Amino acid sequence: MTDPFRIGIVCLGNICRSPMAQVVLEDRLEKAGLDDRVEVVSAGTGSWHVGEPMDERAASTLADAGYDPTRHVAQTFTTDWFGDHDLLLSMDASNRADMSDLAPTDEARGQVRMFREFDPEASDADDEVPDPWYGGDEGFAEVLEMVERTADEIISRLPEIAPGVKR
Ligand code: 4NP
Repeated sequence: MTDPFRIGIVCLGNICRSPMAQVVLEDRLEKAGLDDRVEVVSAGTGSWHVGEPMDERAASTLADAGYDPTRHVAQTFTTDWFGDHDLLLSMDASNRADMSDLAPTDEARGQVRMFREFDPEASDADDEVPDPWYGGDEGFAEVLEMVERTADEIISRLPEIAPGVKR
């Protein structure tokens, strides 16, 4: 059995955006029968919420849409993540900059891509998943739409993203 392809998704607090994306992408991988070939984890560049479950608003947005948000435990992104993952996806440009600051080499820095690079509705001017933490419920609904769309595209482009992974 070959090692799984490892995707790390990163936001600021690891209680809203990146865990929502992790849960949705895991759901899509399971439905595609690829959950034993591709592993998804998430982390935050900030450590305020380490050990906590998902934000209640993120969790209820997921639960209302039929996903299981209960297994999440927040953790921090560290330099080790560069060596331990095949693809690192940041939720916004600030997260990407914070991750780049921790990169041990230029090559490692090149591992970091924007999550919405895979969103068919993104553009150069609109390539971030906005932080819903300070806003209302509609921000969480918007994040869910973006991550569902993007997760679907990641699954269909998996042969290009992770060439070793076959259905
Ligand atoms: P996330 O949202 O990065 O999508 O998990 C946030 C969660 C917590 C904070 C900021 C953003 N905070 O400042 O504690």
